[in-house]
Amino acid sequence: MKDELKKIQEEFKKQLKEVADFAGLSDLEQKFFSRKSGEFTNIMKGLRQLTDDVKKEMGQKANEVKKDLEGLFESKREEIQAKEMANLTEREAIDVTQPLLPKKERGHLHPITLAQEKMEDVAANMGFIIEDGPELESDYYVFGALNFPDDHPARESMDTFYVLENEDWCMRAHVSNMQVRLMRKYNEGGTKAVRAAYPGKVYRNEALDATHEHTFHQFEAFVVDKTINIGNLVAVIKQLLKGLYNRDVEVRLRPGYFPFVEPGFEMDMKCLFCMGKGCRVCKNIGWVEMLGCGLMHPNVLKEGGYDPNEWSGLAFGMGLTRLAMMRYSIEDIRHFMSGDLRFLEQF
Ligand code: DAH
Repeated sequence: MKDELKKIQEEFKKQLKEVADFAGLSDLEQKFFSRKSGEFTNIMKGLRQLTDDVKKEMGQKANEVKKDLEGLFESKREEIQAKEMANLTEREAIDVTQPLLPKKERGHLHPITLAQEKMEDVAANMGFIIEDGPELESDYYVFGALNFPDDHPARESMDTFYVLENEDWCMRAHVSNMQVRLMRKYNEGGTKAVRAAYPGKVYRNEALDATHEHTFHQFEAFVVDKTINIGNLVAVIKQLLKGLYNRDVEVRLRPGYFPFVEPGFEMDMKCLFCMGKGCRVCKNIGWVEMLGCGLMHPNVLKEGGYDPNEWSGLAFGMGLTRLAMMRYSIEDIRHFMSGDLRFLEQF
């Protein structure tokens, strides 16, 4: 038995020397120490058949050998580990002198989309339904339903694009086409108050220059309820502008004419850049024209399915394009639709 121990010890040392990695180490461990059939384990099992005093002596001997082998095994493990770590730092080293890769191009939302989403957010938080609508629209929703009399000059002032000389269909010249559509959709037979906001593209056949485009974006909203007054109109708009600019705003009303409101107003906001002192943005006026607004005309409420003796409404509409121009101090509206990346990448 002593010889056998000696032999195994020698054999183990010999084979350990040849081990170069963790896999080899694990194989060796299996071969000698596996519980079922390890060569060293077998010897330990053999001890059971010996007489007591021999068992004691051989047991001691075997334990010494075992300790020796375990020690050797552990140092080998450490050696391999150190080698692996050294390899790792070499393999995964970063060469800090390498030139930078060119930056990856990433797209982003258009500045007008950003302005629109912000407005939608604020309005939704104030309880407004947000809704999309048709851009190719019947003359009825764009004008007729909104109290524009036939042959009224206001129709011409909109420079509307009509479709194929058919005067019944046009590209909407304002998003106000949604007023009567949405009242009818949500008023439950003229019995329910409605708050709705509707952004979108509008089209006008204008002479194009730095402040006029054939396609631009508007944002409009209305509230219909039992007792709507001008105080409500001002309060709702101020709240919305406050949400948009993250600060209190000062506004003023001037009389304005729109067939679908009575009374109608133009609203100015105190210039946020100079706080009314006068600057390039407000053209030294101290105020910036923001939007058209008013109390809904009884004829419009009637078209929307409400009894104007019982119901009242407020409405206001503004240009999103103008808003974005002000927000980013953009001097020419034509940049927006130019598709010029030098322009768009600034946002
Ligand atoms: N639709 C008008 C325009 O495009 C703007 C407007 C004025 C909207 C008054 C309104 C309003 O809702 O009440 O010029």
